[in-house]
Amino acid sequence: MVRKEDVKLQPTARGMRSGVYMGWDGDAPTRCLDALVHEIDPGAVTTIHRHSWDAQTFVVEGSGWTEIDGVRHDWKPWDAIHIPAWSWHRSGNDGGKTARFMSYSSEPMLWTLGMCLIEDRGHEDVRKLPPRPAFTEGPKGDDPYARRLRRLAQEAKKRRKGRIHTPYDEQDLLATPRGTRTKFLVDRAIGSEASGITQVMIQFAPGKTQSLHRHPGEAWLYVVEGHGHSFMGTAPDKGEHHRWKKGDLIVVDHYLWHQHFNDDPQNQARLVRVHMFDSILETMRALMDPMVLFEEAEDTLLSMQEVSKIEWPDDRRPEG
Ligand SMILES: [Fe+2]
Ligand SMILES: [Fe+2]
Repeated sequence: MVRKEDVKLQPTARGMRSGVYMGWDGDAPTRCLDALVHEIDPGAVTTIHRHSWDAQTFVVEGSGWTEIDGVRHDWKPWDAIHIPAWSWHRSGNDGGKTARFMSYSSEPMLWTLGMCLIEDRGHEDVRKLPPRPAFTEGPKGDDPYARRLRRLAQEAKKRRKGRIHTPYDEQDLLATPRGTRTKFLVDRAIGSEASGITQVMIQFAPGKTQSLHRHPGEAWLYVVEGHGHSFMGTAPDKGEHHRWKKGDLIVVDHYLWHQHFNDDPQNQARLVRVHMFDSILETMRALMDPMVLFEEAEDTLLSMQEVSKIEWPDDRRPEG
């Protein structure tokens, strides 16, 4: 459990304060993704920069904007933004209170591959900065080089057309058979073209739980609202319970059995689940076959009767 109060925000040369929940620069090294928090004061504008990895944000408080390759996106609480690899980006706050947002990136994965590059250009005009790396369209032909050029050009075009901004109110709330309600924030299902990191907001009904399960890879849950606890163990019956509250990050370590509980009998708990299953789990599946990578304890699933009895409060986000 990474506690909100243990994450120290420090002023940075970018013009915003930043702190590390999980990642190398907070002395909590990771392999796939990292998690940081940032604050931008009213009137502040960050420097413009770009990097070889992609990142995504989740707005916790306040309002502001992020400009990606010269296109401005205005955001409010619970919106998400995807920042594609190599896009020039900067953020600002023209509201009346400090804006706070989380960011998750694939930098550790690119670091693993030795492919991390970052370029900060201060307050230069984006129109004077070099464009994203160019690529070559494939010629006709069936030889391996022609095929590679065509395949990579096609992929690059698709990736450059992905969704950037997800305004919270725009997405549908989906009820799951697990007794939770979910909303995609960054996911292929809503047109995002991220490196594999996805964000989904999960609402736990008052006093309810999710099933006990385990899977490989870093899976994190940011607590947006509410309080509860999570069981984590090396076996379904061998582990410990950890309490959480708003602003904490639940770090589900590799392959631990885990189950999250909403401890509030009156109100829902809201968690944003972040992981890199889309790309990494697919790779792991191929590498680990025939090992089973996702296991769930059936007897911890809610019955349909229980699910149909849940009374959901209004789904309303806070004002920026
Ligand atoms: Fe960035
Ligand atoms: Fe999980």
